[in-house]
Amino acid sequence: MPAGDSFYITTPIYYPSDVPHIGHGYTSVAVDTLARWHRQAGDDTWMLTGTDEHGQKMLRAAAANGVTPQQWVDKLVSESWFPLLETLDVANDDFIRTTQERHEKNVQVFFQRLYDAGYIYAGEYEALYCVGCEEFKPESEIVDGTGPFEGLKVCAIHSKPLELLQEKNYFFKLSEFQDRLLELYKNEPDFVRPHSARNEVVSFVSQGLKDLSISRSTFDWGIPLPWDESHVIYVWVDALLNYATAVGYGSDEETFARRWPAYHVVGKDILRFHAVIWPALLMAAGVDVPKGVFAHGWLLVGGEKMSKSKLTGIAPTEITDVFGSDAYRFYFLSAIAFGQDGSFSWEDLSARYQAELANGFGNLASRTIAMTSKYFDGVVPDPHVYDEADVEIQRIVERAVSGADAAIEAFRIDEAIREIWTIVDALNGYITAMAPWALEKNRVAAENESAEAAATVQSVGDAIAGGDVEVNAELRAAIFELQVAVEHQQARLATVIYTCLEGLRALAVLLSPVIPQATRKLWVALGAEQTLGSLAAQPIREAGAWGKLAPGTKVTSLTPLFPRVESQP
Ligand code: MSP
Repeated sequence: MPAGDSFYITTPIYYPSDVPHIGHGYTSVAVDTLARWHRQAGDDTWMLTGTDEHGQKMLRAAAANGVTPQQWVDKLVSESWFPLLETLDVANDDFIRTTQERHEKNVQVFFQRLYDAGYIYAGEYEALYCVGCEEFKPESEIVDGTGPFEGLKVCAIHSKPLELLQEKNYFFKLSEFQDRLLELYKNEPDFVRPHSARNEVVSFVSQGLKDLSISRSTFDWGIPLPWDESHVIYVWVDALLNYATAVGYGSDEETFARRWPAYHVVGKDILRFHAVIWPALLMAAGVDVPKGVFAHGWLLVGGEKMSKSKLTGIAPTEITDVFGSDAYRFYFLSAIAFGQDGSFSWEDLSARYQAELANGFGNLASRTIAMTSKYFDGVVPDPHVYDEADVEIQRIVERAVSGADAAIEAFRIDEAIREIWTIVDALNGYITAMAPWALEKNRVAAENESAEAAATVQSVGDAIAGGDVEVNAELRAAIFELQVAVEHQQARLATVIYTCLEGLRALAVLLSPVIPQATRKLWVALGAEQTLGSLAAQPIREAGAWGKLAPGTKVTSLTPLFPRVESQP
């Protein structure tokens, strides 16, 4: 995308009925990484996250805890959901709560428009509802219960009994949008990604759509319908509207025009809401559909979708307390193909932390800084003539930048990291092959020989003052050659160390959206801030332009970026 374009990206808004687990954190760090990349590329970026606070699930959780729903959500949002962003180092631009006035008021504006346009009607409804999903379940997701739920119909996702609801509802004429939706998927093949998710959506919509119940009248924890206050708006459609109300829908048309449409990243469990219902609602209201919906897979623990209700939930702090937020971000974003399911295990996390972050990247950084201190008094040396091996590193960096940018455009964060990691691997191989310590050893040896020869010239000269001119000239030629050798080794060493430092400079920029803390530390150690400014200000798509780190800059010592982890839960 050309720099400067608007890039608005969202996470789903989370149910704060419970505390966050690593699955929620996964979506958030993925979206944060995509947003950071675009922000650093100069795109007009906006990242939104938030909480979905209405609905029956919330009402029941509050009742079970003996407080009002508002008290319950206020407590969870401030004690668990805001802190999650700190824990994972998420740099969101906004946080929307569906109980905020900016949301409630404009959701009503939206539905009034739909009602006035004739897309809503009143009807009777009877169907099986899952409070866990906050959804009337389709046949395909209703299964027979087992164990304590023998004889009951249960939700295929939550394995909990479904409730038969029979009430007067208002309906949205979703069925009228089948053709327009199919046309959308056809004309914009990337509207739903990955393509496996797209195919699933197309086949679902091709089978026909039923009208959607958009209100509930048996409880009042929600946004009242403007034309019939005895109904509250169905929590899912209330929630979907957050993406629009947060950027000014209904109240600030200028901001809305600047930001909208958005890209939505969601777990595959909620794809249909985003790829079917949401665009249809927008079409009905005459608003542009989203730019795209990307469905990622599930984190599996012990082969099952990790979830709090099934007691497989792991809190993000369990990981960050031991490994840090960078490791959390790196691990989930690199180890799982974005769009597919991935299994979490402590062993895998620990092994990748050690191999890739500590030994791969961290060690490369410490070694390079240490060699700069040792061989060049901590000053970035001036590179001399580049050999083929040096130029190859430059090529690898350049390729990695364009490869990673293309992967990010395709929402494949894992592939982007793989592209960037080619630099880490290449530099580690380069250091082994160039053996700077050997260059230094040769330099020191040549320097010693030259000094010895100079001393000989001196003593010969003293002994036969003005005598054997021949001997003197031979020795002087030898000294000259030795000095040339010294300079050559010195120049080669400077070029090799500069190549490593400049490679690290590119790595700091490219990895900053993924591991913001370690790269900031590295940036400071490289002394880059002094001449290049802050890390966040480095244009990411130009990270491959060679020679940005200024020779003469002072580097500072670097404590290990990824220290050894002694214990794990
Ligand atoms: N409130 C709705 C979303 C409304 S968006 C308009 C909701 N909330 S949720 O808290 O239950 O889940 C939100 C998201 O958390 C999922 O879509 C998914 O992105 C993420 N995950 C929850 N469990 C997960 C895993 N086990 N694995 C990966 N992501 C998971 O649904």
